[in-house]
Amino acid sequence: MSAPSFFAREEHPALVPASERGALLANPGFGKVFTDHMVTIRYTEGQGWHDAKITPRAPLVLDPATAVLHYAQEIFEGLKAYRLPDGGAALFRADANARRFRESARRMAMAELPEELFLQSCRELVAVDREWIPEAEGGALYLRPFMFASEVFLGVKPASEYLYMVIASSVGAYFKTPTGVSIWISEDYTRAAPGGTGAAKCGGNYASSLVAQQEAIREGCDQVVFLDAVERKWVEELGGMNVFFVFEDGSIQTPPLGGTILPGITRESIMLLAREEGLTVREEPYSIDQWEADVASGRLREAFACGTAAVVTPIGRVRGCNRDFRIGNGGIGVATDRIKARLVDIQRGVAPDPHGWMERLF
Ligand code: PLP
Ligand code: COI
Repeated sequence: MSAPSFFAREEHPALVPASERGALLANPGFGKVFTDHMVTIRYTEGQGWHDAKITPRAPLVLDPATAVLHYAQEIFEGLKAYRLPDGGAALFRADANARRFRESARRMAMAELPEELFLQSCRELVAVDREWIPEAEGGALYLRPFMFASEVFLGVKPASEYLYMVIASSVGAYFKTPTGVSIWISEDYTRAAPGGTGAAKCGGNYASSLVAQQEAIREGCDQVVFLDAVERKWVEELGGMNVFFVFEDGSIQTPPLGGTILPGITRESIMLLAREEGLTVREEPYSIDQWEADVASGRLREAFACGTAAVVTPIGRVRGCNRDFRIGNGGIGVATDRIKARLVDIQRGVAPDPHGWMERLF
């Protein structure tokens, strides 16, 4: 099923003109500029995966009783294709996204898309929409594979039909102020409980985080940081990114996985790169009390958020739960800057890639 011929191709009658595309790519922001095409693959119980297509990007027509609209059986992924110095393009660790997509599907009792089909769908969409990969530093083509219960049925059960799709968005930085974001500690809301869906990339996790994100915005903060649901004490992750702490002895720490945190691919990559640099890396719980105390004592020097969209973004200020503390000078610290550069240089194809993380597409 891995051959390109698996995807039927529908010609686009009216591509966005080059001049218009150029204007859009000059300052794309995040998640607003979309490419010309999309991928669709259908799944039907008994028949398996079928009708794989690359078509002009267009709205969907859904029956109002489509199961996802009622019970939110939906998962997604986020990965980027980067422009290489010689004009080619490469995907970063797409195999890890394909694996996580399957794991999310399993948790949500959905059909599991074969990893090769996930990879092939991403490769082909990038190839057909290659002109949409920004060239500017910090730019990339963000791929958004997703899948939802498309069966028309109001009974509550795992669906027997799914629609898998990939759309692509030309992006720049996720945050308007990528040089130091402020985060709001959610006191009343948690993101994920033991036994819940925190480790799956399902839309429901984000839906339930929005009231806390709304509170953060109202308080003038960029993002929410969630504490654990049991003790309301341990720092877990941000609404859409993992978190790292940098200490005065040069060591770094991130909360451990365990079912309530998304196993971020950026998180894992950073841990590996940091260990290779000789840094001590701990995956250990870190409490909000300790965070505040370590900032006050000077033991904690830097903190940053990381993820496909956020890349590596320094955390400059933390507020909420009767706390308000600034980290360092509120901007990017030396260690964060170095970790970011190590990662981004590999992604942009300007540093060696000893782990084979980049898959050149053309
Ligand atoms: N945590 C959450 C809740 C996320 O939405 C994301 C983004 O995908 C991450 C962490 C970081 O994951 P990754 O590095 O795989 O993009
Ligand atoms: C990503 O980084 O890919 C995400 O899905 C997070 C979201 C905040 C855009």
